Amino acid sequence: MHPINEIRGSKSKTLSGKRIVLGITGSIAAVECVKLARELARHGAEVIPVMSRAATKIIHPDSIHFATGLEPIIELDGAVKHVELCGDTSNPADLLLIAPATANTISKISHGIDDTSITTMASCAMGSGMPIIMVPAMHNSMYTHGIITENIERLKKAGVTFVGPKMEEKKAKMATLDDVIHQVIRSLSDMSFEGKNVLVITGPTSEPLDDVRVLTNKATGRTGVHLALEAFYRGANVNVWAGEGVKVPDILPVKRFGSVGDLEELAQNADAHVILVPAAISDFLVEKRDGKVSSSEEDTIKLRRAPKILGVLRSKTDALIVGFKAETGISLEELESRAIKRMKEHGLSIIIANLLEDVSEEDTKALILRKDGKKDIIQVKKSELATMVFDIIGESK
Ligand SMILES: Cc1cc2nc3c(=O)[nH]c(=O)nc-3n(C[C@H](O)[C@H](O)[C@H](O)COP(=O)(O)O)c2cc1C
Repeated sequence: MHPINEIRGSKSKTLSGKRIVLGITGSIAAVECVKLARELARHGAEVIPVMSRAATKIIHPDSIHFATGLEPIIELDGAVKHVELCGDTSNPADLLLIAPATANTISKISHGIDDTSITTMASCAMGSGMPIIMVPAMHNSMYTHGIITENIERLKKAGVTFVGPKMEEKKAKMATLDDVIHQVIRSLSDMSFEGKNVLVITGPTSEPLDDVRVLTNKATGRTGVHLALEAFYRGANVNVWAGEGVKVPDILPVKRFGSVGDLEELAQNADAHVILVPAAISDFLVEKRDGKVSSSEEDTIKLRRAPKILGVLRSKTDALIVGFKAETGISLEELESRAIKRMKEHGLSIIIANLLEDVSEEDTKALILRKDGKKDIIQVKKSELATMVFDIIGESK
């Protein structure tokens, strides 16, 4: 058994049974492909490697053989692997992922030229309707070259999905491996939320006490990021509003908020079919002092009640709103009755309530209540909670 099989599916089974043709072209970012191939395998995929001649000068085919368990296809021959894998056949692969994609390969494919193993795979895939993802990587001067920009647009119009690049150090660098994986999962999903706009508001607020100090909380925003990714995987147009410090993958568009006031301003223009609010929003506003309060000075912080953002959202949109309620030191019965009160008060469709003592970094125990009275008590990983929540939203759509 090749060692790749020892890690296949070790992170998730999301891509189990999926066969992905990984086209590696001659960009320096080809050195990332060992990690990319193994990460795809960790999510359950079988990766079938194809390399251009130029790619073999950058990374040795043995490394790619090691990373995938298969010898890379470099030249096409009488086995017609391009037809078998990407053509109109009875058992084609599920996806053609070209990562990294050079300016040369992008431009050739956009003009229907196929003179390498990868461009020929692409011609077949375009004709057979197989999903194609391209992950460009090149120098800035190539990426901003008008003809290459046009070629990228041409491919987008033809249905090719692009991930990245991220612009850094005057280069159009390959997107992060995580973002490539996120897009692969989306491209292979049932796209059941296609056409739906989903907004996720997550993380802590932070109220300024003076010009340097803030009143904030310990929320990491991780639950919201899992929810946003789940919506993205299911094909939704996702927007994230995140508090300071929340790590949001580059593939998700994000607006940042600091104080409750910032959030209230954003909420005036909230527009989505589904809004999820796992944010830890301060219940109090602080009267901010100018400058920096001296350490020799004793002071009293004056708190005022903050507006309820759920209420603002409800008044501005008729979206399906999913609220979250975190409490501590109360019974499950009391948690349920407070959650029902919150649901009624703000016209929520679903509320997810938990006791902070039941939540760890990756796991959570939660009570899921729906406005039709259905109730579930679950103990799961935060990422699994996201799957369950979207299954429930899917039923309520
Ligand atoms: C070390 C090295 C790094 C390169 N990096 C890139 C790159 O990041 N992006 C790119 O478009 N071309 C890059 N090139 C140029 C391509 O390798 C060249 O255009 C080649 O013809 C691409 O062939 P392919 O698209 O069939 O792989 C690089 C070349 C070398 C020698």
